Parts: sequence; C-alpha cells; structure tokens
Amino acid sequence: MLRTHTCGELRIEHVDESVVLTGWVQKMRDKGGVVWIDLRDRYGITQLVFEDRVTLDEVNEQAKKVGREFVLKAVGKVVERYSKNTNIPTGEIEIRVEELEVLNASKTPPFTIEDETDGGEDLRMKYRYLDLRREPVRNSLMLRHKMMQETRRYLDGLEFIEVETPVLIKSTPEGARDFLVPSRINAGEFYALPQSPQTFKQLLMVSGFDRYFQIVKCFRDEDLRADRQPEFTQIDCEMSFVTQEDVLNTFEGLVKHLFTSVRGVEVDDFPRMTYADAMKYYGSDKPDIRFGMKFTELNEEAQGKGFVVFDSAELVVGIAAEGCAEYTRKELDKLTEFVKKPQIGAKGLVYVKCNSDGSFKSSVDKFFDQDQLKVWAEKMGAKPGDLLLVLAGEADKTRKALNELRLELGSRLGLRPADQFAPLWVLDFPLLEWDEESERYHAMHHPFTSPKTEDMSLLDSTPGAVRANAYDMVVNGVEIGGGSIRIHNKETQQLMFKHLGFSDEEARQQFGFLMDAFEYGAPPHGGIAFGFDRICSLFGGQESIRDFIAFPKNTSGRDMMIDSPSPVDNEQLRDLHIANLPE
Ligand code: AMO
Repeated sequence: MLRTHTCGELRIEHVDESVVLTGWVQKMRDKGGVVWIDLRDRYGITQLVFEDRVTLDEVNEQAKKVGREFVLKAVGKVVERYSKNTNIPTGEIEIRVEELEVLNASKTPPFTIEDETDGGEDLRMKYRYLDLRREPVRNSLMLRHKMMQETRRYLDGLEFIEVETPVLIKSTPEGARDFLVPSRINAGEFYALPQSPQTFKQLLMVSGFDRYFQIVKCFRDEDLRADRQPEFTQIDCEMSFVTQEDVLNTFEGLVKHLFTSVRGVEVDDFPRMTYADAMKYYGSDKPDIRFGMKFTELNEEAQGKGFVVFDSAELVVGIAAEGCAEYTRKELDKLTEFVKKPQIGAKGLVYVKCNSDGSFKSSVDKFFDQDQLKVWAEKMGAKPGDLLLVLAGEADKTRKALNELRLELGSRLGLRPADQFAPLWVLDFPLLEWDEESERYHAMHHPFTSPKTEDMSLLDSTPGAVRANAYDMVVNGVEIGGGSIRIHNKETQQLMFKHLGFSDEEARQQFGFLMDAFEYGAPPHGGIAFGFDRICSLFGGQESIRDFIAFPKNTSGRDMMIDSPSPVDNEQLRDLHIANLPE
C-alpha cells in the first residue's frame, strides 16, 4: 500500500509515530504561517498541518497550491492537537507533514463534497462518482453491503442455496412492461429481461433444490417513483414442502435478523392483518401502523338525516385526529384542499371538533345535533380535544382518499418517525383483480399463485371474491416484499390461465415449459421476494431508494452520467433486424 494508515484510523495513542496517509483534499485553510488540510478517504478525515519554520519551506509551498479534491500522499508525524475536535474520531491528533506528494490534481468539483451539498439532483447524478465521495451516500451503500452480507449469512445458515438464473429470458406477465432485447442470430425475435426470476425459481423446486435464494437484478419498464427503479434488486426466495406458515416464519426471521444485526433493534413478532381488514381500517393494502387513527365506518349513524352528500354515498367513513380540535379555520381549509387535490379525489371534507367542554362544533351542524355527533365521537373512540374528519362517496375511492389524509395527518403530527419500525404481514389477498381498461381479471400477485382451497368454488360465480394464499410484508407503509404458495399441478395452473383469459394455445405457448415441468413430480412450494433497495432505504431512514443504488436512473429512466438510453447507429439496428435500412 502507498499508505501506512487510513484517514480514519489514527488516535492519541499514535502520537510520535511516523505515518503515511493518502486521500483527497476535503478542505484547505491557509492562515498565513499555518496551513491545514483535511485529508479524506473512505474511512474518515485526518487533519494535516504545515507550519512556517517547522515544516520545510518547499513542502509549505506545495501545500498552499493544493485545491479541493486533489489526491495527496503525506508523510509525517502524529502530534497531539492544541485545539481538539470532538466531532470526529481522529480529532485529538493531526499530522505534522514532512513530505507531500500530489498523486493527482483535480478540477474544482461542480458541487461541494459535503454532507449537505449545494448540488442539485441532476448535477449529483451526472457526477455520481463525486457524489459517492459524500459521506451520507457512501454510508447508504455501506449499509446496503452489510444488509447483503447478513441476508446471505442468514439464508445460508438455513440451507438456502444461491442459484443464478438467466437475464435473457422470455417475458413473465407480472404486471409491468418488459424490457426487450432483440436477437441478432434469431431475426425478428426478442429476449425479455426478467421482471423477476419467478418461473425459474419454481423450476428449481421441481429440480429438488428445496431451498433457493438469489440477490438478483429485476427489470420493469414502469413509471418511476421515489421507491421504484427500472432495474432494482430482489432478495428472491423459494422453498419446497412448506405451508404458508413456514414461509412467513422463515422470512419474518430474516427481517428480524436484519433489524438486529444491522440496526441493533429487536422487533416483536409481526402482527398479521387480512387484506380485507387492511382495506377496511386503513384504506390501503400497505398500512402504516406506526400510529392509530383507524377508520370508523359511519353509514348507520350518519345516513338518513337529510344530508344528501352522506345519504347518496356508498360509504361514510372517518378518522379521529388526536388533539386536533383546536385546528383553525385556515388549517381545516388546508386539509379540505388536500383531499380535493385531483390525485386524492375527494369532493369535500366534513369535520367535527370535540371541544374540551364536551360539546361539538362541526361543518354539518345544520344536519346533525349534539347527541348525534356524540354518537359518532363515541364510535370513533374520540376524546374531548380530538378532531373527527369524515369523507363520503364511492367506497373504494373514499377509502383511498381517507388513507392519504390519514398519512398526511400522521406526518404533520410527527407520528411517523423514520427510526421507528412497524412491520406487519398482510394476508389473504384476492386472487384476481378486475381491470377496467382491458375489462378482464388480472392476477393480483401473479398467475402462479394458488387460490385458497375453500374459495375455489367461487371461481366461476364470483371470481373477485376468491382469496389467494398470498402475503405481503409491509413496514411503515412500504411494501417491502410479497409472495405466495404456488400452484404445483398442471390442471390448476391451466384453470388459472383460463380464468385470466388465456386461450389453451396462448397458455401453452407462454408457459408450456412450466406446465410440462409440473407433470414430472413438482413438490408443493412457495416463496417470497423482497425489494432489496426498499429495505435498504427503510433501514437508512430515507424515502427514496436512489441513494442506496450506486448508479441509479433518474425519474425519466435516464442514467445522467453515462447518458443512456442513447441512439445507436444504423448498422447496429440492421444487424438486429429492427430497421430495414439500405446497406
Ligand atoms: P413483486 O412484484 O411483489 O413479487 O416484487 C417483490 C418486491 O420487489 C419490490 N419492487 C420494486 N422495488 C424497486 N423498484 C421497482 N420497480 C419494484 N417493483 C417491485 C417491492 C416488492 O414487494 N416474483 C414475485 C415474488 C414471489 O411471488 O415470490 C415478485 O416479483 O418491494
């Protein structure tokens, strides 16, 4: 090594040692007579000092010429500092430099390499290699590394085998669009990049691998959000000869292991909630249960009193915001504006203030007297000082809007701290979901998910009511993983495809290989996949997964640094048979 120590290593006990450090210039201060340089590497920052009459003149001159991000090699002696910096682990010492070598110069970086940088998102992404020098981003990637190691340790300990599956495959219908790769040697044909290794892991179960996992890149051509990237990583897992209970326990164990080994927190056993309850009480299949404010349905209490908005609604439902009765007109107007935003879609908001003297003041006093409002408050478990917020309308839309309002209030009231974790399992998802656009049912999870045996008889009459052996793991309102017990025989799989509107021919063409495999002794099996980037961002206390990915894409799916996607020349297109261009 060019160095004897890292920039994070030296302490008071090293005083008088001769050392060699290498790193980047974080900061240079020239106080005339004394120059200080903060030298930074992955491990920390160490202060170098150059002093007139103590340091050789030519070394002092060299030091005065270095700029931010220059790469240096400094030879010198560890000395105790006069004024110590208690904020950094090396803050008690500094290096009195004897020799200095500039290993490389640097242009002035386009943004400051500090925790709080002045660089905007686009600039940071264009110069991601500089952004990655910043401590918070580096820490996020180090957290990711640790999570990966701990995941492997846990799963290896339970006899899971890591198997790589192909990246050039055929499309698997899992909801999103595929990224396609044209084949040069098979004119007019395309590979698809995997949205997940779903069918392969099931085939590995047929092969008798028994327990499989893979930390694997998946690709989905969908609209991007803070927690979505076109290429992302899953911890993909599958097990044979298991019940749903076995899968839940094994992977609750994984996430608990990660919490203890990476965050040092012990979490209790994860509560379980059915999909039906999650929708009824939180209006979401990924409820944030760090706080209460559960929904209370008020149809019985609020309808038939002459208030047409309620009377004509399919659902009247509300939440009680603790201690918010003092909200001003302005604050209430703001909440009303919030629910009326097009993406939330409510028509209006009814409020009831539960005053501290036991009386009520509401926006619907014309229709409801004090006794009636009291009944609402009691049903909602509200106390004096609380504020009731009620929405009405079509059931699904109203629940969705109230979910948004609940989350908004939760954030405003500080009930969603990033360092508090509330995991849960959401169980018994519906098997099928009606798609308005295509006017047919889609698999809510994927077509390989098994229906609950006791609901099978409903498949023909009320397909929407059939529940699946499918589960999601949710933490703090984020879906971090999902899976199911699979279908493992050909007939059921065929029946499933039929209900999804596939002709026998289409099913055979797309999934013949899987159904064939099921005829050669497929064991009962099930599994789960976690969104690895999402778990990392959750553990790192951030909403966006971007800083937990070394080289992410921006919201338009672009890599700003390498500038991709990019046009290719005609010759390449011609080779791939996707352009009919003259030679
Ligand atoms: P699913 O589609 O639910 O299941 O994906 C599993 C988990 O992957 C994460 N995820 C994403 N993360 C970042 N960016 C994206 N675009 C993105 N899409 C999904 C989510 C999600 O919970 N094969 C099945 C799993 C199985 O049945 O075993 C599957 O892929 O956290």
